[in-house]
Amino acid sequence: MRRHLISAADLSRDDATLILDTADELARVSDRSIKKLPTLRGRTVVNLFFEDSTRTRISFEAAAKRLSADVINFSAKGSSVSKGESLKDTALTLQAMGADAVVIRHSASGAPHRLANWVDGSVVNAGDGTHEHPTQALLDAFTMRRRLGTLEDRRVTIVGDVLHSRVARSNVLLLNTLGAQVTLVAPPTLLPVTVESWPCEVSYDLDAALPKSDVVMMLRVQSERMNAAYFPSAREYSRRYGLDRDRLARMPEDAIVMHPGPMNRGMEIAAEVADCARSTIVEQVANGVTIRMAVLYLLLGGETQ
Ligand code: CP
Repeated sequence: MRRHLISAADLSRDDATLILDTADELARVSDRSIKKLPTLRGRTVVNLFFEDSTRTRISFEAAAKRLSADVINFSAKGSSVSKGESLKDTALTLQAMGADAVVIRHSASGAPHRLANWVDGSVVNAGDGTHEHPTQALLDAFTMRRRLGTLEDRRVTIVGDVLHSRVARSNVLLLNTLGAQVTLVAPPTLLPVTVESWPCEVSYDLDAALPKSDVVMMLRVQSERMNAAYFPSAREYSRRYGLDRDRLARMPEDAIVMHPGPMNRGMEIAAEVADCARSTIVEQVANGVTIRMAVLYLLLGGETQ
């Protein structure tokens, strides 16, 4: 493993498998009544969040605490960032406080990469702009592996707003590394121009892709990142690219439905599909803690006890 986790592309197949296997071991701790391990006692993990988050921020905090690390939570709101302090000066301040790992979420693609040049500790990308979200891809792969047994030759269909999705990019990279076959389904306006160079297939026809899928991962329509009209209306988007009960019925019986959250219920996914037995959405959140424990454990070099 490298010192930082900034992109899913940083992970070789062996690295990714080590993280998933370590998470399997650590999942047993989560099943105990006392969930804590002394592994990272005396280490400090800083959660540096410049963008809103529920799942990622809380699960990194829970993961670090379950490994007995000291946790400092920083959010841009209410900090000296609002007085104009730069990312570099913020990073140097955290460095002075002895951060062993900095978990960063930032609206600018590339911010974690910059940060890695300024701090001595490990940097973990918790989502940078529209670029990457590698721990989301790891928890998704972990969830798929637990449900399906293996990722080798599994057919994963990722649907929706690929253009603004750091989750999609990280998933395509990691799933390809792990031997899965990925198809992206989206309207042409919601695909990045570089998608032809990604290691996946592209389709505009969700109904054709569904019967061939072991996994259907729905993406949130990221209206907050849209400064133009990318589709005629929410209703039209939902009609062509939303996963409803009728479309669920076209998937193979043992295929699963995923969504990284937060969801737009009724738009990219119907509420009854999000809450059905084949949905892994709640499981993904629980697995997020386990995967982040594994990442912190491996980056900070703890030993299991
Ligand atoms: N999936 C995800 O990154 O969710 P949050 O924005 O709530 O962290």
